[in-house]
Amino acid sequence: MAEAPSLLSLCIALVTDEIVQRDDVPPALYDLPPDLLDTLALQLPPLALHNLQSGMPFELQNEDEYDNGCLVDGRKRRRSSNFNLAWKKNFNLRWSKLTDAIQPVDWQQIYWERHLQSCLDEAAEIASLPSFSKCIGEIEMSDSILKYIASEKSIHFWRAKYRNLSYHCQEFGCYALCLMLQSVLCVSEICHILRSCKLQKLVLRWIRFPEQVNGLCKLLSQNRETLTSLELIHCKLSSTSVNSICDALIHNRKTHGILHFSINASHFDETDPVALPSGLVSFFSSGRYLYSFKLCDNDLGKNFGKLVFHTLLDASSCLSALDLSENKMTGWLSNFNRRSLTGLQASSMVGKSLQSLRVLSLRGNGLKKDDADNLRYALFHIPNLEFLDISDNPIEDDGIRNLIPYFIEASERSFPFADLNLENCELSCDGVTQLLNVLSTLRKPLRSLSVADNSLGSSVAGALGVFMGKSIQILNVEGIGLGPCGFQDLVEGVTEGSNIVNINISKNRGGIEIATFLLKLLSGGSDLVSVNASYNLMPVESLDIIRSALKIAKGKLELLDLRGNNWDDQKAQDSLVAEFQNSVKKILIYSSSPTLDGLYDGDP
Ligand SMILES: *[C@@H]1O[C@H](CO)[C@@H](O)[C@H](O)[C@H]1NC(C)=O
Ligand SMILES: *[C@@H]1O[C@H](CO)[C@@H](O)[C@H](O)[C@H]1NC(C)=O
Ligand SMILES: *[C@@H]1O[C@H](CO)[C@@H](O)[C@H](O)[C@H]1NC(C)=O
Ligand SMILES: *[C@@H]1O[C@H](CO)[C@@H](O)[C@H](O)[C@H]1NC(C)=O
Repeated sequence: MAEAPSLLSLCIALVTDEIVQRDDVPPALYDLPPDLLDTLALQLPPLALHNLQSGMPFELQNEDEYDNGCLVDGRKRRRSSNFNLAWKKNFNLRWSKLTDAIQPVDWQQIYWERHLQSCLDEAAEIASLPSFSKCIGEIEMSDSILKYIASEKSIHFWRAKYRNLSYHCQEFGCYALCLMLQSVLCVSEICHILRSCKLQKLVLRWIRFPEQVNGLCKLLSQNRETLTSLELIHCKLSSTSVNSICDALIHNRKTHGILHFSINASHFDETDPVALPSGLVSFFSSGRYLYSFKLCDNDLGKNFGKLVFHTLLDASSCLSALDLSENKMTGWLSNFNRRSLTGLQASSMVGKSLQSLRVLSLRGNGLKKDDADNLRYALFHIPNLEFLDISDNPIEDDGIRNLIPYFIEASERSFPFADLNLENCELSCDGVTQLLNVLSTLRKPLRSLSVADNSLGSSVAGALGVFMGKSIQILNVEGIGLGPCGFQDLVEGVTEGSNIVNINISKNRGGIEIATFLLKLLSGGSDLVSVNASYNLMPVESLDIIRSALKIAKGKLELLDLRGNNWDDQKAQDSLVAEFQNSVKKILIYSSSPTLDGLYDGDP
């Protein structure tokens, strides 16, 4: 019996060589039983596998198609899944690090999509050279790319035919759903080269000049039927170019199918305009499916922000997520201040709302206490908001006090508001204590809260303990300076078995009290799934208490981060990890970057 497999493998090796060298598939191969064809497929490099699959007689292809319609017997189903295995094998050979990270259903599609991306990236590098003067389609791909798709043995045969970028685009473009393009490739020729693509997602970088905008617009029009996501990064945009881009997306000047639109780390010629580019206005009002809109890190001033908000409000947009982070929008909601709300502007806003907006991110915008006050009024026009991120804004205690009436009213009116991020808002113990006291009495409690990176000190622990006893599930109090005293108070204040699922208490100089706190938290049927207790100056004696806590946790806990506590006792650490390796999915204990050890936020 030992001979049969070796004869088989010999035959397969011969056939493989034949296919690879002739660059052609002998038709007789398709008469092979499916199992043999599968075994053969697993030996083939991508181009040969591609040829085998595309040369497959129509009847056999049809059988494969029945896969989707469930009209298959076991044998046929196995056949098609094994071709997918062959594609997965090739993908893994080329991008082994990525194989685990992505779980595509169709490895053939993802293989050629990534391959095309590699070709385009290489082409962009060549096209950026000052000496470059050819058409981009004629850019020649290097051996280092070709060797992956052909077998290295036969690469020399294939040089001429498979060299040019245009070949790869033409042949594999139909597999590419998502591509990232550098601006050097955005010339009018790009449309021709990518004509077989039906792109769903397009990411553009460094678009600066009108010719590039032109190239992009042609590509957008060409993919209008399928495109749902557009992302512009590091671009320089004038009103004219924004208008052209938006026009290119709108079918027959009526509607567009874009779900996600993002302009990020870019520069607008006018950052504080008196009116939005008209194209953007039509874009907002003609997108029936627009789901998320991001304008992050574009240095936009308050007027830009104001215009975006009011335009969306006027268009009664169906947007779900609006991200205006990292701009400079101090004063952007001044139309919503108390005084003007009694006047004319108020009547123009009556009844207008962003009914579907659920996520609003205003991180890092230089917002101050007055902005928080205005925001409170603006939020009543967003009745279905669930998540508000105002982190990295110096709103201070007065700012949070200005927002408190909104939290109360949202709860009383049963708005779905549930998640609040107040990281690094220059809040102090007073403001946060007041906030926590209010939040603790709400009829409809929050689901998640972050007050991380505000210097609150240990005296916030009293209010925090009461708050933790309510229904909060995700709490981030990283770097608020709780210290050992704070955790002592928490241990006394917090009830056993809270609803907390994730908690981040890192960088609080908590010492051994952290361990005692965990023990208390985990006693009595806790839902705790993840704890970040890193960088807390915990002494090595804490390990015994943590061991007791983990015994109580009974397998619910998935992540415990204890890094950055500088324990010298390797044995004690190893034994803790070993003891719980089956019950806690991940215990992180060794700090991979010792430089972080200096990063403690203490009491001021
Ligand atoms: C590749 O581009 C060159 C020009 O650089 C052209 O002469 C040749 O015909 C192209 N080859 C194929 C196979 O398209
Ligand atoms: C763009 O936005 C995303 C968030 O949507 C962010 O993670 C990223 O850092 C931003 N900047 C660039 C240059 O991509
Ligand atoms: C801190 O914890 C929160 C909640 O568990 C988590 O979302 C956040 O990413 C953590 N922060 C860091 C820096 O890991
Ligand atoms: C825990 O917090 C530290 C400090 O902010 C952070 O570096 C680390 O990534 C966090 N751990 C996890 C698992 O998110």
